[in-house]
Amino acid sequence: MNLMITGGAGFIGANLVLHWLRNHPDDVVINFDALTYAGNLENLQEVKTHPNYRFVLGDLRNPLEISKTFSEHKIDAVIHLAAESHVDRSIHGPADFIETNITGTFNLLETARNYWSANLSVHRFLHVSTDEVYGSLGSEGKFLESTAYAPNSPYSASKAASDHLVRSWRHTYKMNVVTTNCSNNYGPFQFPEKLLPLLIHNCTQDIPIPVYGDGKNIRDWLFVEDHCEALDCVFHEGDPGEVFNIGGENEWENIDIIRFVCRKLDKELGKSGNESCGNLITFVKDRPGHDRRYAIDATKIKTALNWTPRHSFEEGLTKTIRWYLDHQEWVSNITSGTYQDYYVRQYG
Ligand code: NAD
Ligand code: TYD
Repeated sequence: MNLMITGGAGFIGANLVLHWLRNHPDDVVINFDALTYAGNLENLQEVKTHPNYRFVLGDLRNPLEISKTFSEHKIDAVIHLAAESHVDRSIHGPADFIETNITGTFNLLETARNYWSANLSVHRFLHVSTDEVYGSLGSEGKFLESTAYAPNSPYSASKAASDHLVRSWRHTYKMNVVTTNCSNNYGPFQFPEKLLPLLIHNCTQDIPIPVYGDGKNIRDWLFVEDHCEALDCVFHEGDPGEVFNIGGENEWENIDIIRFVCRKLDKELGKSGNESCGNLITFVKDRPGHDRRYAIDATKIKTALNWTPRHSFEEGLTKTIRWYLDHQEWVSNITSGTYQDYYVRQYG
């Protein structure tokens, strides 16, 4: 099978490319990525010369680049991850989110539909989305696949729109689509604009840790490799048209997870007393429209597809912290240059 993974140079995409090449030696993986600020080919250094790996520099906003890739690489199936993915950036500049997440998904669906028209029901299209499309929870309850969409940020609204497009391409054209909505991921290769890598990076550099609002917002954290296994399961076994929520059932208030990581980093970095990472915690102005709580009910994927996360939070976090401490050069390569401009704009 020739499998196109869009956004394969990003955080989850790179983990997925590596997972796929390790676990499916008969498949060829075509990584289609525009290499925005979030795309980094260093993530895929170890498979650069793998016989079953190809990289295509391409932009979803350009339908010609997509159709050329389909015909040149005879694409059999797609796992679609490419997106603008950071809520804070969507607040500063929503246009890119509309273009990539909505128009880009539309371009991809249309190209796939045309290219596979002879046998549309055979070719799988897995659309990777987020739990943020469901909006914000109160202190009770969890997101089910049947929860009504109520996106609150330009990011989540653009992902919600893309989910609706995918759903309608199933309903109208009978495309073989499946959609996943996952909770917050953490792990190697995550760009240090997201909470956990930003926190680890700031602690290594003695930079204040910005905590939005009262720090009591809740997220449900999943180790990225467990997400990749879930995507593999859904890709192979999910019924066409189905939606699967994926999550770690691992809820943390931001301030608690930050303190927990700080304590682990103190041990790793040999810090204590006045030097403790916890002393870097700084409460800052809240994110506009900040969703209070996300929590996934993952019963469907667990019972229907027998998926369950393999990493405890302790294991996943230990692996993640170790990875960032061992890859300081990776971090410094991406935190120089334009990252500094972003940081100043976001945090002052
Ligand atoms: P990321 O920002 O790390 O990577 C996105 C990738 O997409 C980058 O490699 C970038 O170069 C590429 N890209 C962006 N615009 C493109 C375009 N126009 N054409 C081609 N490529 C383009 O994102 P991520 O965190 O790895 O997320 C991947 C997917 O998973 C996204 O769809 C996101 O909505 C979803 N998701 C992420 C999380 C999370 O916690 N990170 C959780 C649930 C769902
Ligand atoms: P983030 O990693 O941006 O993911 P998302 O907003 O998609 O859930 O943020 C996770 C949580 O951490 C969220 O509640 C916002 C909060 N946060 C901070 O308090 N400070 C920060 O500097 C960042 C980036 C996030």
